[in-house]
Amino acid sequence: MFGTMPGMVRIVPTVTLSLGLLACRVPPSEPAAKPPATEEPAATPEHPEHPEHPEHPEHPEHDPAPREASPPQGHDPEINARYERERNPLLWQWRLESEGREVYDRRAFILETLALTQGADVADVGAGTGLFTLDLSRAVGPAGTVVAVDVQDYLLAHIEQRSAEAGLKNVRTVLATQDDAKLPPGSVDVVFLCDAYHHIEAPVPYLQSLRRALRPGGRLVVIDFDRARLPEDSWIHGHVRGSAAGFRAEIERAGFRFKREHLGLKTNFFYEFEPVP
Ligand SMILES: C[S@@+](CC[C@H](N)C(=O)[O-])C[C@H]1O[C@@H](n2cnc3c(N)ncnc32)[C@H](O)[C@@H]1O
Repeated sequence: MFGTMPGMVRIVPTVTLSLGLLACRVPPSEPAAKPPATEEPAATPEHPEHPEHPEHPEHPEHDPAPREASPPQGHDPEINARYERERNPLLWQWRLESEGREVYDRRAFILETLALTQGADVADVGAGTGLFTLDLSRAVGPAGTVVAVDVQDYLLAHIEQRSAEAGLKNVRTVLATQDDAKLPPGSVDVVFLCDAYHHIEAPVPYLQSLRRALRPGGRLVVIDFDRARLPEDSWIHGHVRGSAAGFRAEIERAGFRFKREHLGLKTNFFYEFEPVP
């Protein structure tokens, strides 16, 4: 979801408030730097995946956050109800695409770490306002496609408008249901979920639909809040229904094999899975 508490007011220079209605001008997402073709992220001591980096699990100064082992709990209906009630895409764009939200601030790192190849077909599941859709589109180039998947039709219409305005012709949209992403079987190389997995209300059938949609050799990438890295009084604990370990186990039980964790985000885990053949 997003990092603004209900009732909290955030004023940024690019936002204009008028007669109680929110009109927003949000700076467009920076064009993605051309990602490296297939190589691993730089293995230098400055990179968090390097063993000499203090955040690396094998570094002597690494201070691992306690990992909760508890299984995911029931879903908070308010998580998606707000998106039903507040059908204003510009309001959501302001919330989701403002500084202070880690995945917004670190979007260049996330895009680079995905290391997408030109021509790849990617599903941006739970695409929201299209924070990643547009950069994914640029990363795969005209030979590839990006399918923005969401359960809110007004957000998909917003993404279509933004893509057209940016001249991106390889973006499609798909209206999902809570138990099915509605992607054709064997149609994508990468399924990408950022801050969206904990929104899915029927994860088991939904994950099965994602597994069907992936081509052999494809990958599922999940970035989401890691509750254990946030203080216990953080609103996230009431918002996100499971721990990172619990989500990982849930995804593995649905027919995926854990491939790797990318380090470098502070409050989110960044996992990659592959479908079990
Ligand atoms: C917090 S937003 C994340 C948007 C975007 N990925 C980002 O990081 O900016 C979560 C999105 O998931 C969508 N969503 C909820 N349930 C979904 C489902 N079952 N399938 C696809 N999208 C879903 C919501 O409508 C919302 O747009």
